[in-house]
Amino acid sequence: MKMRMLLVAAAAILYSSSSLLMAEADGKWLARVPDEDKARVNPLAGQAKAAAAGKIIFEENCARCHGVDANGLHNRPSLRSERVRHATDGQLAWMLRNGNPYKGMPPWNSLPEQQRWQVITYLRTLPPAGAAGGKP
Ligand code: HEC
Repeated sequence: MKMRMLLVAAAAILYSSSSLLMAEADGKWLARVPDEDKARVNPLAGQAKAAAAGKIIFEENCARCHGVDANGLHNRPSLRSERVRHATDGQLAWMLRNGNPYKGMPPWNSLPEQQRWQVITYLRTLPPAGAAGGKP
């Protein structure tokens, strides 16, 4: 019986330390984006065709972590948050190129740059988290 309680306690500690490793997204990456990257402009901004292409790229590459609705899944952040909405296109482009592997966000430099801009164009079409069309 005692042994069992010890095991339960050990499992709880393991669980909480692994969730510490997967700490909640805190936006610290934003401070690492150089000014010239931050100022970059999305050449495809507002283009419906680019957004449609970006949606497909999103579903293939991003939805498994950020959710099909982009509201975030298991500790992976929503991409409809205030933070993402307020980030510049250039900041998002930097995050897509470099990722933050230490915190579980892969770099997407294997996607052509054009496709990264398409995903960003798509993200800009999403309503804010919690708005109509958000998580049911
Ligand atoms: C393997 C899981 C995974 C996949 C796949 C993934 N991401 Fe992420 N993403 C993360 C995690 C974890 C973070 C939090 C990183 C941090 O806090 O620095 C994150 C952070 C982000 C952020 C910053 C959000 C914020 O609130 O700070 C953006 C933007 C983003 N991802 C876009 C994308 C896009 C677009 C794709 C697809 C091309 C994608 N991600 C694919 C795991 C993933």
